[in-house]
Amino acid sequence: MIRKIGVLTSGGDSPGMNAAIRAVTRSALCNGIEVVGIRNGFLGLVNGEYVPFDRNSVSDIVERGGTILGSARLPEFRDPKVVEAGVEKLKGFGIDALVVIGGDGTYKGGNALTQHGVNCIGIPGTIDNDIPGTNFTIGFDTALDTVTSCIDKLKDTSSSHHRCSVVEVMGNKCGDLAIYSAIACGAEVVITPETGYDEEDVLDKLKYLDSIGKNHAIVVVTEKMVDVNSFANKISEYTTYSGRATILGHIQRGGSPTTSDRVLATRLGVKAVELLIAGVGGQAVGIENDIITAHPIDEICKMKATSRKELYRVFEKTV
Ligand code: F6P
Repeated sequence: MIRKIGVLTSGGDSPGMNAAIRAVTRSALCNGIEVVGIRNGFLGLVNGEYVPFDRNSVSDIVERGGTILGSARLPEFRDPKVVEAGVEKLKGFGIDALVVIGGDGTYKGGNALTQHGVNCIGIPGTIDNDIPGTNFTIGFDTALDTVTSCIDKLKDTSSSHHRCSVVEVMGNKCGDLAIYSAIACGAEVVITPETGYDEEDVLDKLKYLDSIGKNHAIVVVTEKMVDVNSFANKISEYTTYSGRATILGHIQRGGSPTTSDRVLATRLGVKAVELLIAGVGGQAVGIENDIITAHPIDEICKMKATSRKELYRVFEKTV
């Protein structure tokens, strides 16, 4: 039987993490379980940055972006000795089990702790939407809204100036933010890890659109694919468009979570606590076809991301 659980956020923050922290805290407390907020991810876990939570600790946060717990990346947590040091700290504080909110690195940390005897449940919190075992991660919907509204604004100005905007969006190695926003904004070109990048092809396509009288163009690119500044210069040389690069950057990670992210985070937080109460650890929760599900974290870590072929087909048919 568990008496005290910890909750932490790790990796890049995402809007909706606070709603998940709140759900974990409130649902544990109402089951008579004590809750400890662990600050700054696995770094705080190892350093003992523990804050006892009551219901008021998580008041007025459901609508707030970021994470009240703070976040950090700790690559050293791959080292079993560091994991053991973390387990000792948790035991010293009487923490029986843990909810970890974050992306794949966070899941690996949660899996390692479970293997060392501390049951952990992973909640997918990242704007990248790159976690298998769930249709959506917490924060993706909000980030997508931010990207969409930024590209809408860029469209206004680029169409007034016969420009081609090359917009770099986040996603790490996942093209979801790019393909969803490209469809939502009516972009002309999308470049993602799934599409690959053929510079000549893209320039030819833009040249063609230019030749048939398209006044402006939007190219959405997943980060780490292309140097968007030099690519924008090439567009200026190769077409009559003035190529301009915009890197949206960390603005995509901020902002108040959408309704959808708040509800998703709350449902996943409640499920995580239910699993821990049932004595289950080493699982990652997710949403699949509107059903809240759980899968072993080690399997999730080995799985490939869902194919988006249908979305790319939809995009190509509506360019
Ligand atoms: O994983 C979320 C994410 O925002 C990625 O999209 C991006 O590649 C990375 O984090 C940026 O990390 P940092 O904020 O540490 O530079």
